[in-house]
Amino acid sequence: MCTMCPKSHYSTPKWWKEAVVYQVYPASFNCSTHTSKTNGWGDVTGIMDKVPYLKGLGVDIVWLSPIYTSPQIDMGYDIADYKSIDPRYGSLSDVDLLIRTLRDHDMKLMMDLVVNHTSDQHSWFVESARSKDSPKRDWYIWRPAKGFDDDGNPVPPNNWAQILGDALSAWTWHEETQEFYLTLHTSAQVELNWENPEVIVAVYDVMKFWLRRGVCGFRMDVINLISKDQSFPDAPIIDPSSKYQPGEQFYTNGPRFHEFMHGMYDNVLSKYDTITVGETPYVTDIEEIIKTVGSTAKELNMAFNFDHMEIEDIKTKGDSKWSLRDWKLTELKGILSGWQKRMKQWDGWNAIFLECHDQARSVSRYTNDSDEFRERGAKLLALLETTLGGTMFLYQGQEIGMRNFPFEWDPDTEYKDVESVNFWNKSKELHPVGTEGLAKARTLLQKKARDHARTPMQWSAAPHAGFTVPDATPWMRVNDDYKTVNVETQMCFPWQSKGELSVWQYWQQAIQHRKLYKDAFVYGGFEDLDYHNEKIFAYLRTSADGKDSWLVVMNWTTSAVEWTVPSDIHVTRWVSSTLQTAPPVAIKSSITLRAFEGVLGCCN
Ligand code: GLC
Repeated sequence: MCTMCPKSHYSTPKWWKEAVVYQVYPASFNCSTHTSKTNGWGDVTGIMDKVPYLKGLGVDIVWLSPIYTSPQIDMGYDIADYKSIDPRYGSLSDVDLLIRTLRDHDMKLMMDLVVNHTSDQHSWFVESARSKDSPKRDWYIWRPAKGFDDDGNPVPPNNWAQILGDALSAWTWHEETQEFYLTLHTSAQVELNWENPEVIVAVYDVMKFWLRRGVCGFRMDVINLISKDQSFPDAPIIDPSSKYQPGEQFYTNGPRFHEFMHGMYDNVLSKYDTITVGETPYVTDIEEIIKTVGSTAKELNMAFNFDHMEIEDIKTKGDSKWSLRDWKLTELKGILSGWQKRMKQWDGWNAIFLECHDQARSVSRYTNDSDEFRERGAKLLALLETTLGGTMFLYQGQEIGMRNFPFEWDPDTEYKDVESVNFWNKSKELHPVGTEGLAKARTLLQKKARDHARTPMQWSAAPHAGFTVPDATPWMRVNDDYKTVNVETQMCFPWQSKGELSVWQYWQQAIQHRKLYKDAFVYGGFEDLDYHNEKIFAYLRTSADGKDSWLVVMNWTTSAVEWTVPSDIHVTRWVSSTLQTAPPVAIKSSITLRAFEGVLGCCN
């Protein structure tokens, strides 16, 4: 037990700990058919239409990626007005109705809070850019040029690269007032200056606006980047071939980050009963993280940790998103079990997730998305996620095992995300057509682009997968596999005669099971077994009172594997397998798991 937390609150029940949160990526979720907005963009009414569907799956909270007014340079993460809804998605009254509809189903709505930066179209920035004397000048981070180069071009204040386009400077030049402003993600996303107390008050105001409307909390976008090292030093040169360098060490969990978060808690969050989850990239140190998510931290309930999401990255060049390596099962086990144990020891709380809108599809990354193994892999991941401790987040399409779109899709037209487009453009500049370098870039896109999570939700085998009406054109191409991989087919799957559940049916059952035995699965202890086994991922989840104890065993390979149950573990019955509805095998000291099969045993 960590000495900092003699009295643990880890197992203290809270609604937000037990909740199943479902992330909706609104542009790609569902287009309403009974409104006039049948333009191939999902909308709020379309989400409302699916509330009963989500309820049926076992969802408690719907988290919406941003639907606020935005020029959509970064798909709504560039907000031009925090208090209005982008007309593409609907209106404020649609959101009010969504909140009411969710409430009628005993569900809640969580919003995305993007307050590290605004769009350059936000009236605050327009005002700030008007002149150096603007009352809002100091709401953003303005700096003079370091100098001018031989051609008379202004040189940025430091060498930081943009996060979503590392060939570009994180500083954008403003011709009219002859100064740079800081834009860490894209040139259209301007860093708010949290050093200015007026900005902080404005952020509180936005939060209260949404909480009063009835939302239950926030996912906070790159919230740990809000405090920057005010000396704005040059970043060390990690990639000598690049003009700009990753600067995250100077703006991640910066000098005043915890002060800002305490302020937000004291002034806003403490006055409501909320769920809060921070998106906190670049930080992996438990002592630092616990300052945010510790049960007595008075900052956030939990934060997304990206260690497992970055398992394929080669970590030599700073932010190494565009790299790929093979990894071993023991590495994944180490990361996941490490966080399970650490959070309990340190009295924090985990946010469990395998997918989100910024990552390729989990079945393609962690298992095998071939036709032969996709369903097995998806169910294996469902068993994993529903048996890990923490608050569970499910991303749209994960419940049917949606996979990455094919390699053959044209990188010049089918990838819409600004990060992918920047990467592909840079790759084309660096590597001529036909070279190995360009082929590698294309492979990286197919494996890692955020676009794979953003293709339209596959509802049925109807045109456009039922995402929109037949004569509309979806904003992103629907994955080619929608005729077989879709909600309708999987919900109607004849499991009785097949003796097996579809991916959707398995998720539904697994969520129910998690809720029924939440003392073990949500709040319980975690013990890993056979840690060095590269084929089998096995662990025990046990409730604090020891009454509920469950054994999870997963075969992470494409062939059958025999596994010996440790002699001190007494399985009283095998409850389920991901591959058959009938309970598996009689109790023996060893079990054989088929390719990508997972089983659950009761040890009470
Ligand atoms: C977060 C969002 C991502 C966005 C970025 C900038 O990482 O999840 O989609 O591009 O912040 O807002």
